[in-house]
Amino acid sequence: MNEASPRARVTIVYESMFGATRQVAETIADQLRPFADITIVNSANADPTEIMHTDLFVAGGPTHVFGLSSEATREEARKVADRSDAALVFEWPDVTRGLREMLRSLPRASRPQHFAAFSTRSAKAPRLFTGSAARRIVRDIRAAGYLPLVAPRDFLIDAGHRLVEGQLSEAADWGAQLAGHLNLLRERQLAADKGVGPKTRSSDAPAL
Ligand SMILES: Cc1cc2nc3c(=O)[nH]c(=O)nc-3n(C[C@H](O)[C@H](O)[C@H](O)COP(=O)(O)O)c2cc1C
Repeated sequence: MNEASPRARVTIVYESMFGATRQVAETIADQLRPFADITIVNSANADPTEIMHTDLFVAGGPTHVFGLSSEATREEARKVADRSDAALVFEWPDVTRGLREMLRSLPRASRPQHFAAFSTRSAKAPRLFTGSAARRIVRDIRAAGYLPLVAPRDFLIDAGHRLVEGQLSEAADWGAQLAGHLNLLRERQLAADKGVGPKTRSSDAPAL
């Protein structure tokens, strides 16, 4: 973000076997679009080097076996869809390339760059018992030097792997919250560029 490029750039990368996490990602994108140039892409097709040019990196994936999916759990998801008599459509393009693999090639942040993480997980129990992919996403992205913009967020699915009613409106609220934080950051950055305010520091990040 600088004076030559006043619009913020946001990259949203998602993983989604049956479409629930994709729907959340698209809803978040809709909320951010009035305020930023948005790239939304699945992690199988994402180019990690593009993240270097983004101001806010939003990453989301489904919870598999308490954390981020692996090639084996994505393969298992394909079988779940095959057994579901077409009620579930397996839409992931390449089981060898998930968010976990993409995050391994994430370039280190070279300036104050922010991120937000979300996941989808079962509604049947509290997070302690279901696990959350978002926790693992946070760990991986923080390790590359990015600053958390907000706390990670889980969106809930039912036993049929569909979003529970009301979750897309929760996702819209979370997207609006991200937009608010992003606008604040941008204002501060523009003020700092003009020499009238403090620059973003790593200590500005919320405690998670
Ligand atoms: C192999 C496999 C393992 C799963 N493990 C968990 C789990 O440990 N905890 C949980 O809450 N949900 C679990 N789920 C449910 C997924 O979180 C759910 O399928 C996902 O949120 C749906 O989102 P998607 O359509 O974007 O993939 C699992 C699903 C699969 C296919």
